[in-house]
Amino acid sequence: MAESKSSVIQSEIEAFNKYAADWWNPNGMIKLLHQMIPAIRIPLMKSGLTDAGLVKEENKGKSNMFEGIKILDVGSGGGLMAEPMALMGAQVTGVDPTQKLVDVANEHIKIHENLKVEYICDTVENISANNKEKFDAVTFFDVAEHVSDVRQVLKASVECLKPGGRIFITTWNKTFMGWFYGIFLLEYVFGIVPRGAHDIKLFISPEKITEYLEEFNCKTLEVRGTWYSLWKRDWSFTSYTGVFYAMQAVKEK
Ligand SMILES: C[S@@+](CC[C@H](N)C(=O)[O-])C[C@H]1O[C@@H](n2cnc3c(N)ncnc32)[C@H](O)[C@@H]1O
Repeated sequence: MAESKSSVIQSEIEAFNKYAADWWNPNGMIKLLHQMIPAIRIPLMKSGLTDAGLVKEENKGKSNMFEGIKILDVGSGGGLMAEPMALMGAQVTGVDPTQKLVDVANEHIKIHENLKVEYICDTVENISANNKEKFDAVTFFDVAEHVSDVRQVLKASVECLKPGGRIFITTWNKTFMGWFYGIFLLEYVFGIVPRGAHDIKLFISPEKITEYLEEFNCKTLEVRGTWYSLWKRDWSFTSYTGVFYAMQAVKEK
């Protein structure tokens, strides 16, 4: 791995290394991320990439909807999101500084044949100079709440995006409810998320992300609240953005 810049928090990397063996367990420690993929992330991307004109007419509504689309998955972890996007036809590059997770991703991809996925063990800041305006879309899923400098990581991510391309984000809001529901209830009362997985100090509001994105010539197109129901034990979209949210922005031409 090349030298990491300051956005990486070493204690976070150590924690992710511990989760590595359990990464692909749908009922394991990162169950919430597994469930978020079909309920939130894929629908968000399907509508965004279609609106952007990136989905080929003949592929609309089909299982290969992302065919030909070049996607950078920032903070790809063990490949949980990169793999389904590639299965839908996308050409995916995943970048992540946690070596054990990149190893897990490279191992898991072997169950499929001929998927267009490449994993790089590095930070997005380190690879952005060689990947300027190379991708149609960037995914930034549940990474913002694990880095020390979101602005720097977003800047590098947007640099890799082609003008007119889309960036998709999911993260946790920096509010009292973000702490109460996201940390106190999910981690300490219900134990659905590993204790200590999140730090309210690292959460960020959609307004702050919008401000950073504007600085990097991106226009926020939508911010949607997302909700993990303790009753249904699953995710859905909601109008309330106070705990979790999903958003997308376009890089202006
Ligand atoms: C909660 S995990 C999310 C993984 C993946 N996006 C998913 O949802 O399955 C956050 C990931 O961000 C990665 N990360 C932290 N700092 C990063 C950086 N500067 N560039 C790229 N990835 C980073 C971590 O190693 C970790 O795998």
